[in-house]
Amino acid sequence: MRDKFHCTMRSPMKILIVGSGGREHALGWKLAQSPLVSALIAAPGNPGLAELGRCASVKADDAAGIAALAAREAVDLVVLGPESAAAAGAADALAAIGIPCFGPSQAAAELESSKAFMKDFCARHGVPTADYMVFDDAIRAKAYLGGREPPFVIKADGLAAGKGVIIAESRAQADAAIDEILFLRKFGTAGQRIVIEDFLPGEEASFFALCDGETAIPLIAAQDHKRAYDGDKGPNTGGMGAYSPASVFTAAVCDETMARIILPTVRGMAAEGRPFTGVLFAGLMVSPDGPKLIEFNVRFGDPECQALMRRLTSDLAPALLAAAKGDLKSAAPLDWDARACAAVVYAANGYPDEPLTGSLIRGVEEADLIEDVVVFHAGTRRDEDGHLRAAGGRVLTVTALGDDLAEALHRAYAGIDRINWPGGFCRRDIGWRALAR
Ligand code: AMP
Ligand code: GLY
Repeated sequence: MRDKFHCTMRSPMKILIVGSGGREHALGWKLAQSPLVSALIAAPGNPGLAELGRCASVKADDAAGIAALAAREAVDLVVLGPESAAAAGAADALAAIGIPCFGPSQAAAELESSKAFMKDFCARHGVPTADYMVFDDAIRAKAYLGGREPPFVIKADGLAAGKGVIIAESRAQADAAIDEILFLRKFGTAGQRIVIEDFLPGEEASFFALCDGETAIPLIAAQDHKRAYDGDKGPNTGGMGAYSPASVFTAAVCDETMARIILPTVRGMAAEGRPFTGVLFAGLMVSPDGPKLIEFNVRFGDPECQALMRRLTSDLAPALLAAAKGDLKSAAPLDWDARACAAVVYAANGYPDEPLTGSLIRGVEEADLIEDVVVFHAGTRRDEDGHLRAAGGRVLTVTALGDDLAEALHRAYAGIDRINWPGGFCRRDIGWRALAR
């Protein structure tokens, strides 16, 4: 990959990818295939990205450091992976020096970083989402629950690494959750306010759209598994596996999501002086009366992104550049592989609470040799001898394409089985809902 990549000098597009996860490796993997891209830099990157270009030791949430790196390297485009980069103001710092950035400004990132902002925004623009109230006072919050039926959905307002949502089955549980967030500050300052909202029934799907500040074009949907263990049990994680297509996300649901959720949001953000550039990730509840928004994220999902990049057959580089330059109208439509993709996360033992790092991982190259299998790195590092070791919670994502989901899963698990890593675990039931249908 490296050689092919460095020899491809037809056009001098140099891209900086910000982040270090499986999502960023998948974006880099896809961008590296573009004939328009001459060089990739990642900050801080990971061993997978290091095979595609160069890694610079600048943290994703160091906005000034990212801008300085982009200027020093004279990159043509910066792609923000994690929300932390956007929330820290990396896009604003890049705008100030005139470098195109695929990723939202700090103000636009509030769609993810403040649930209260997001809910109020949806109310202003008629975006369908659960009815809600915002509280900073525990007594008022508990009084509000008095007139309502469980389950109660209680959320910390700010960024809480996907853990700030409690679905309480009883009043006692709900009251305890309110106290934990508002009094005990379980989520720190993210819990200065809480949102209490109606419980939405249905099946969840993750949908993605590219936005250029004015308009948006649809990508595709995926479904992920947020719980750590088989049977959707155990603690919430960033995501243990994903698959695409998502059968609940039909073409009609896609059209409705674009018309009622994505486009009103992009137009509303522009009208409110916070134009949204980057990828808008709508976490949806799909029910018989249509899709409803659970949450927005201002970035690709991980591991959904890995599945999307495997299915994307078009060149990603011009699409991201067009979005960054406010020029999506002139971008070519994107094409997708009709085959299914499965993405299985291999995590370090102890994840998500206390992942044990340092263990030796063998066999990644062997897994990569399986037809239609690609392994993406996240929390890995190379030791002094070049051996791969665990260095984070989610460590690898093994992805595979197949004619249907069953075949894709079969291949992904064949990849998992070639990896020799006693220090890791994965779920063995990714895609179970779709397979059961
Ligand atoms: P969030 O961090 O807002 O995506 O919430 C995490 C998870 O909680 C979601 O993926 C859903 O499974 C669940 N959830 C959040 N809000 C609701 C809701 N209003 N109704 C039902 N489930 C919800
Ligand atoms: N996999 C869900 C997320 O990235 O938030």
